[in-house]
Amino acid sequence: NEIKIFSPATVANVACGFDVLGFCLDSVGDEMLIRKIDKKGIFITKVEGFDLPYETELNVAGVSALAMYEAAKPDCGFEIEIYKKIKPGSGIGSSAASAVGSVFGMNELLGRPYNKTQLTEFAIKGEALASKCEHADNLAPAMFGGFTLVKSMSPLEILEIPSPDDLYATIIHPQIEIKTSEARAILPKEVALQNAITQWANFGSLIHALHTSDFELIQRSLNDVIVEPFRSQLIPHYHDVKNEVLKAGALGAGISGSGPSIFSLSKGLKTAMNVADAMKNVYAKTHIDFDIHITKI
Ligand code: HSE
Repeated sequence: NEIKIFSPATVANVACGFDVLGFCLDSVGDEMLIRKIDKKGIFITKVEGFDLPYETELNVAGVSALAMYEAAKPDCGFEIEIYKKIKPGSGIGSSAASAVGSVFGMNELLGRPYNKTQLTEFAIKGEALASKCEHADNLAPAMFGGFTLVKSMSPLEILEIPSPDDLYATIIHPQIEIKTSEARAILPKEVALQNAITQWANFGSLIHALHTSDFELIQRSLNDVIVEPFRSQLIPHYHDVKNEVLKAGALGAGISGSGPSIFSLSKGLKTAMNVADAMKNVYAKTHIDFDIHITKI
């Protein structure tokens, strides 16, 4: 009657895929315990790691759980314990991990009445509480794993994109907080046609490169001419990190979600580790603390 789950961190946008592309970091994530109880309702009974609200309606995991609960109308209730490892505001899908974890766990305990796309629909409600807008580019990879593309929000359609065997991500998380809602507010509402053309050419070629394991094409596609010019200003030493990881052999780098984390992709673990050192060297010269993760995608 209870299930312990691991809910992974994710990297959204992946340079040229703002709001639609993401990938899963399966070595970093939250743990959650979901328990079926007789008393009806959704109850957050424990939060460890970071200071998050216990009121169900104010808690991201609680809000997505409620959305599913109201649809499923089960003859029971649920308690949720959250062991939060992903720092809120870090840019690696902290709210998405919470939102996905609760509905995934409840679905298992109810005998899987919903598929992963339907579960993601419920999770969108929780994500929206945190970022003040509905987007699923962190939710989808947390739910499905690997690379995912949110083809449409209404109706929700998620495509699973393959990735080459030897592809690794290195992520540095400088310890400053950027709220997704604020990082969205600074973006222009309109983009120049020439930038749009460049961006969708890169996006299409990145998807093609992932399908064909073409590392050289991945390298030439990881560019963002629309969002990065604005958001990079919020991240100290962003351009230094980017320059250094490229020198260390990375295929490319960009802002992870809405930042401040910076992701980079590499072919092979050895390069991913060299990239980690290059990232560290930049922030080690500053007063900003950081942590680093390396994951095979
Ligand atoms: N696509 C979203 C954004 C992800 O960049 O605002 C937020 O983590």
